[in-house]
Amino acid sequence: MPLNYSSDVDFIDQSLSFMIEVEADNESEFALRKSEFIDTNKVEDMLASLTVPAIGKVCKVGVWKADIYNKLKTAFGVDRCIGFDCYDYLDNGDDSVTIGDFRTIHSNHNQDIALFWNGLGGWDTNTSSKQVGLDYAYSNLVSGGYYIDLMYLEGHPSLDAYPNFVDVSNDLFRIYRMA
Ligand SMILES: C[S@@+](CC[C@H](N)C(=O)[O-])C[C@H]1O[C@@H](n2cnc3c(N)ncnc32)[C@H](O)[C@@H]1O
Repeated sequence: MPLNYSSDVDFIDQSLSFMIEVEADNESEFALRKSEFIDTNKVEDMLASLTVPAIGKVCKVGVWKADIYNKLKTAFGVDRCIGFDCYDYLDNGDDSVTIGDFRTIHSNHNQDIALFWNGLGGWDTNTSSKQVGLDYAYSNLVSGGYYIDLMYLEGHPSLDAYPNFVDVSNDLFRIYRMA
């Protein structure tokens, strides 16, 4: 069944491999985002500007094709990185990536996190997943650790319920540092 874009049902609950359809339906937007975030050094430059704590994992939820995850591995080292996705889009395999619905498996993975990237898609279409990502980060980030999301994604909740997050965002990235 095709994805229903106007449904209140999150994409993941319509199809576990929903990104195949989303990418095919939005080719030009994905090409634009790739040229802005993947084919440039904007992610690398942003990461280099942070003082990431020495203790804790670097975690990317929503690895997809690993474009950003690979940048994290290059910046922080393969051994420090862990990733999650509900569907295995990587045909070469990657032992550091756990396949499963993060909404249900996150509690088996509580651990110190130094940097958390909430790559679980849009807040409007993946609301329940993004929220679990945000709450997992708030519970697991070490002091001085960072939560990261893309600024162009609309609908991020207010930070009122997250008083220990210090907003250090820029115009491209939503960045919250744990006090
Ligand atoms: C928009 S894509 C990620 C794009 C990513 N920021 C990048 O370019 O590297 C969203 C990813 O989140 C995954 N995802 C969404 N909800 C999830 C969930 N509850 N558990 C695990 N993965 C999920 C999807 O399968 C998809 O690969």
